Parts: sequence; C-alpha cells; structure tokens
Amino acid sequence: MKLVGPKTDFCSTLAHHLKCDLVEMERRRFPDGEINPRILKAPKEVILVNTLSSLNFDPNKYLLEYIFSIKNLKEQGTEKIVLIMPYLPYSRQDEVFRKGESFTSKYILEIFKDLGIKDIFAVTFHLHRQRTADLVEGITLHDVSGVDALRDYLTSYKLENPLVVAPDEEAEKWAQRVAEPFNADVAVLEKKRDTTTGEIETTGKIPEGRNVIIADDMISTGGTIKKALDICKTFKSKKVIVCAVHGIFSKPITWDKDVEVITTNTIENPYAKVDVTPLIAEVLSQKL
Ligand code: R5P
Repeated sequence: MKLVGPKTDFCSTLAHHLKCDLVEMERRRFPDGEINPRILKAPKEVILVNTLSSLNFDPNKYLLEYIFSIKNLKEQGTEKIVLIMPYLPYSRQDEVFRKGESFTSKYILEIFKDLGIKDIFAVTFHLHRQRTADLVEGITLHDVSGVDALRDYLTSYKLENPLVVAPDEEAEKWAQRVAEPFNADVAVLEKKRDTTTGEIETTGKIPEGRNVIIADDMISTGGTIKKALDICKTFKSKKVIVCAVHGIFSKPITWDKDVEVITTNTIENPYAKVDVTPLIAEVLSQKL
C-alpha cells in the first residue's frame, strides 16, 4: 500500500514509520476558497491521510479534501482506500442535543461509507455517547489512542505524587489512563455547558498543594481547561501540566508562566510535542 497525503512533516514521518512511499496530494486552494486536491499517481491500494494546523484551522476544507481525493483516486483506478484521520471532526456532535439539529458525527461517517470506505483509523475521537462499532453499520472506526501517546511521553517527567484532573466527567477515562504509570489519584470536575451559548461552568474540589496533570481530548477555545486551571489556583496546586490530544486553539489563549501545555501532533500547533505517527503505524500494521 502507498500513503497518499499532503507533503507535511506529519505525512513524511508517518510514511517513514509505515515504511512506504508518500504520494503527494497537492492542496490547491482558489482565491474564492474552493479547493482542488491533485494526485498525480493513483496506487492500487492507498492509505489516505490529511493534516490540519491550528493556524487557519479549517475542518471543512480538511473533510472536503478527503472526499474529493477518494473520488479522484477511484476515478484514476485505485481499488482500496483506508483512511487515517489524525483528527475526526464533528465527533463532539455525537447525538442530537436540541430538536432539529444535524447529527453531524453520524453524517460524516455515512458520507465516507457511501464513498466506499470501510475502515477509518482516527486518533482519540470524542463520540462518548455512541458505541463506535455500531454508530454507522458497515464502517469501522479504529481508535488510535493519542492519550496513550501523551501518557508515555509524561512518564519521563519527575512529578512527585501527581494528581490527574479530568476537567469534566467525559474526560475521566482519559485521566485514568494518564494516571496509570504514576499510580496517581484522579479528580473529576463537573462541567455544565449551555448548549445554546456554549458558556461553561465548572465546579469541584481537589486536594490542596499538589502537582497536577490536567488531561483532556482537545483544547478548542481553551474554556474547559481555563476553568480547570482556576480550580487548581483555588486549591494552590504547584506545577500544572495541561495535556490534550488535539490542539485546535480556536482562540488565542494566554497561559500563566507556571503552566506547561503539551499536545500531540494530530493538529500542527506550537505545543505539539508528542508524535503519534509511530502509534498510528503500529495500530495499522496490527489491523490491516
Ligand atoms: C468536550 O467535551 C471536550 O472533551 C473538550 O473538553 C472540549 O471540547 C474542549 O473545548 P474548549 O477548549 O472550547 O472548552
């Protein structure tokens, strides 16, 4: 199989770990915003990957590039396509929260299924409220745990008696995973989000004066993490490490200087210290 994707560091490193050639998907964008991915060579069997950056983060363009590339490759004779999605957009809309809303996480998978895709390897996707295996019948979402990559990276840190904080209940499973090698306690905060305005309120108590790791799947506006950091301040936490798999950073965030931020490289951003490409290659080689 050959890897097809844009010529980014992520794709080159992934090709290296997969031990296969990278065939470039050229990402042409016209002045009006329309796009035209160009792939000069269509291998028979393809692993298709695309990448995102927190600078000009545009999940819709990223998705359309996948869709056009799949159609393009098929028209040029590709017989098998497996998708790697470093970030699975729309996965937070994993149910219809308000009457009349679109069930976008399901629609995305249905679109790929209609394009003939059977397997998607995605790094830590949200979809809390759905069992991934049966969200859309006929398409399998394989989880590549970006949380495990963060956890392994953090083991080199010498943190005395750390406390791992989940900034909301949904993050508890990730916090538990990060806590494993440290044998650390986990504290789970309670977050309430207004589904109309997006405003959040976070409450909870944590033990005083501890070194803290806050673990979540993504940082978008930073609102969730900021609220957790306020609680850390209230309880006089010492060193605080914020770790998240996907660094979207949809708004500029100012961090206190004693806070360290770590993300993986699923989305290119200034805090992307953890490389998930070896893990993607490993999961792919086990399952393909
Ligand atoms: C939500 O449930 C997610 O796990 C994240 O906590 C959330 O999406 C982060 O978004 P933001 O940075 O905008 O608060």
